Amino acid sequence: MSGKLVIGNWKMNTRGDSARQLAAALLADGETNREGVGIAAPAVYLAALAEQLKGGNIALSSQDVSRFAADGAFTGEVSAAMLADVGCRYALVGHSERRQYFREDNAALLAKMRNAIAAGVVPVLCVGETLEQRESGAYLDVVREQLAILAEIADGEYVVAYEPVWAIGTGKVASLEQIAEIHAFIKNWCLQNVSGSDKIRVLYGGSVKAENAEAILATENVGGALVGGASLDAGSFRVICQAAGKMI
Ligand code: PGA
Repeated sequence: MSGKLVIGNWKMNTRGDSARQLAAALLADGETNREGVGIAAPAVYLAALAEQLKGGNIALSSQDVSRFAADGAFTGEVSAAMLADVGCRYALVGHSERRQYFREDNAALLAKMRNAIAAGVVPVLCVGETLEQRESGAYLDVVREQLAILAEIADGEYVVAYEPVWAIGTGKVASLEQIAEIHAFIKNWCLQNVSGSDKIRVLYGGSVKAENAEAILATENVGGALVGGASLDAGSFRVICQAAGKMI
């Protein structure tokens, strides 16, 4: 593991045409078409994007993965094996929007992590507290509870993304001190509780933009960025990837 990882989370945006155009712009640019850059696209466009990205260096990610491992009667679900089949390298797991709107809990998220790992897809476990939890001072406990599932995973590669809910899509970015504090906390927790933890990358997410990316990425223990809104604009995403590319 070297260099920073930047993943653009397109969320429920784009159509076939705009997804293709955005991917084409990223492919045409050496700052974005390189190792260490990924895009998490809507499930329906993954197969087409995988074809388009073939031969390039941009990694493909899903935004979710089923907690059910085996094929079967799970209407609407997309399994880890299917994601691997279309060429996903990563799968986001437990994004705060999924925790909030789909009530995903630790039991479901542990199953998702395990399924992804078993299928050869690297899960990106998203953790982070709400504004209320931040203000009450309970944020470290909240994040510790969310991280707890990692202690149940014996083996396999994964990534952690710290995304304070209050900074997602709000334009309110956490301060560098706040980011440094929680990233050090996550790193220490991993060192104490999981094996191979020196290799775990911890991304920051929450209103990462062209203007603030460099300072955030240079913060100690920040292994990269998970970028929402700014990843829908090729120009902004390029600046973020460029800042990441300059750092080892
Ligand atoms: P944002 O989203 O960059 O739009 O704040 C980040 C995320 O939810 O991954």
